Formats: sequence, C-alpha cells, structure tokens
Amino acid sequence: MLNGKKILIGITGGIAAYKTATLIRLLVKAGAEVKVVMSATAKQFISPLTVATLSKNPVLADFFNPENGEWNSHVKLGIWADLYVIAPATANSMAKIACGIADNLLLTTCLSARCKIMLAPAMDLDMFQNPMTQRNIQILKNQGFIFVDAKEGELASGLSGKGRMAEPEEIFESIEKYFTETQDFVGKKILITAGPTREKIDPVRFISNYSTGKMGYAIAETLANRGAEIILISGPVEIKPINNKIQLVSVESAQEMYNACKTHFPQCDVAIMSAAVADYTPETTAPEKIKKDSDNQMILKLVPTPDIASEMGKLKTEKQVLVGFALETENELNNATNKLSKKNLDFIILNSLKDKGAGFGYDTNKITIVYRDSTIEKFELKSKAEVAQDIADRIYPLLK
Ligand code: C5P
Repeated sequence: MLNGKKILIGITGGIAAYKTATLIRLLVKAGAEVKVVMSATAKQFISPLTVATLSKNPVLADFFNPENGEWNSHVKLGIWADLYVIAPATANSMAKIACGIADNLLLTTCLSARCKIMLAPAMDLDMFQNPMTQRNIQILKNQGFIFVDAKEGELASGLSGKGRMAEPEEIFESIEKYFTETQDFVGKKILITAGPTREKIDPVRFISNYSTGKMGYAIAETLANRGAEIILISGPVEIKPINNKIQLVSVESAQEMYNACKTHFPQCDVAIMSAAVADYTPETTAPEKIKKDSDNQMILKLVPTPDIASEMGKLKTEKQVLVGFALETENELNNATNKLSKKNLDFIILNSLKDKGAGFGYDTNKITIVYRDSTIEKFELKSKAEVAQDIADRIYPLLK
C-alpha cells in the first residue's frame, strides 16, 4: 500500500529522534520512497549518515550545500511529497510552524508543502502540558495537521507522564491509515458551494453576510485529500484552496452561484451546499452610486434568489447525493428537518449559533446531522477539519 508513496520525514531536535531511524526502515521496507530533512539540532541526536543510509537518499538540512552551492529547494520538496511526517516534533518546532516561521529548511518546507503534514510530538511532560504548547497543538489541529498523539510513560528526563513520542510502529500505522482512508473518494466528483454571496445594490454597495467559507473549504480540502475531484463554487472569501484537485469557480451573486451549480451538478456524484446564499437580492442594481437624501427614507425592494439546494434537489438523480446545511437560531431541529425534505437532501447538517465556538469565522464547529429516516446524530465541538472528516465519513456509505 505504501509502495511508491513519496514520504518526506522531518526530524527535529529531540531525544526521540533515534526512534525515527526505525520508522524510516519500516517505510523503506514497505516500498515507500523516503527523503529526510533535519533541523540543525536534530543532527546532534541522530547522525545524518545513519539517516541517509536507511532512507537511501542524502539528508537535507541546509538551504544550500556550502561546498558546491547546490540549492536544496523547499518548494520542490514540498511538491514532491505525498505526505510530510515530522517525528519527533518538538515544542519549539511546533510553535514555529503554528506561527508560520520558516528559519530552517524543515520549517520552510512546511510552508511550501502541498501535501498533508503529520506531527508526532515528543517532549517532557511539563512542556507538553504547558498552555502555550497546547494552544499551538490546537492551532495546528484547526489547520488540518494530522497528529500521532504523544504517549504516557517514562520520559528521557527521568520523569513520568505524557510527552513520549508514539512508537515508530504506531506512526507507521498512522501513515498507512492515512493512505488507505484518504483514497476512498478516488474517481468521485464533488461539487461544494462555500462562502457568502454578494447582492449588488449599486456599483459600491452590496448585501451579504458573515460567512467566511472556512467550513466549505475544509470539506473541499478533506475530500480532495481523500481522492475526490472537487468543483468548489465559492463566493468572495479571504481563503484559497490548497489541494490541486480543487477546481475553484469564483462567483459573486446567488444567481451566478446557481448558474455555476446548474452547469457542474449533472457531472457530479455528490453536492454539498455549504454556502450562505443570500435569500433576497435587490430587484434592480443602480447603474451609478445612489446619492444620499437625508430628508427621505431609503427603501430597497428585494426579490427572492434561486434556492440552489432546492433546485439541485429537483435535478438530483438516483445516483447522486445531496447534502445541505442549516444555520438556525430557533426551532433548530424542526426547521432543519423541514429543509431536509423540502430540498430533497440526503442529510442536513445543523449548526447552531447558540453553541460557543460554532458558526461564522470560528475554526471550530459543533454540528448535528439529521438523516432522511429522522435519525439524529450529535457531534462534539471539533476543529472544522475534523468536522469535515465526519461529514465525509457520513457521505461515503451513500455513494452509489
Ligand atoms: O433555506 P436555508 O437558506 O436556511 O437553507 C440552507 C441550505 O440551503 C444550505 O445548504 C444553503 O447552502 C442552501 N441554500 C441555497 N440557496 C439559497 C439558500 C440556501 O443553496 N438561495
């Protein structure tokens, strides 16, 4: 299963670095192509010669070779890898990654990597428990980094507690799991709507909402990482897709989003409607900026926009799966259940604005899924990347 997979191993400066030698051996034995990048401190814990011999490739540590000036391109490495595994990941390196610091080759490659990054933390128990480390781990989890959690046990300091790096065999299993699980959507084409829409009043003003697109983009990344081809139809947002299996179709208004969905939906196996589409749009858009008239009220006449989810529900064939979202402030379950049948959805994901940490702009979300047979599944507050995995797991069994 790992045969031919390109795995980049990052080693940072912790005593657990010696265990990474075993991990490299396991990967090479399984047929993976392994390259290793080390931080300067890591070289004091494990010799580059050992690592180069086991990985069958020269070890990379510096931006260029001082002998001949040969350039070690972090960009090439980042594009080359199918998965980047940093083991051990020290508190220091994780803090830098969480801040986007790039002061060595290993860290710079984190910024340019197009693949997923897996971290196996290793440190002393007090460093691990420190709120700053925990905050950094949370930031990284929210960004979709995969963690092979640190374990409880005896530590190099002689103390005992949580902070030991997971054993090489467990990290190896996590890598295998990543490649099996994540390829379950190969051959599937998925349409995702995300972000807000803008409904123009005049050339400088519009009606919109607080949606940031984070949930829809997290679903797009997750499904692309699991092998699907994604058409991401997005309203104006600050974020950009990373995975090159995501084709971005940028739109502005509800009408434009509807037109794009109508074009792409017939070729898709699944559509996930996560956009916060405006329900109304100005009946007319003024060709010039509307002038202020302080003596009179300003009355805008609004007309309904197309309900994209409902329209796709009408077009839906037996083979297609349609998923919608509901953001409610009252009678949440009733309203969500009504939308599920009205829009002909396979299931609906309910977000509540009442839940702390859920809703617009957060990196976390707390969802409830309502299915067609009226069963309800409630989830804990999780990072949007983890919520996206849960949603993908619920779609998978519905694929025809
Ligand atoms: O009816 P309501 O807007 O609450 O329904 C929410 C669901 O319908 C979401 O999945 C949203 O993306 C979708 N929707 C849509 N087009 C609209 C309004 C909502 O696709 N005009």
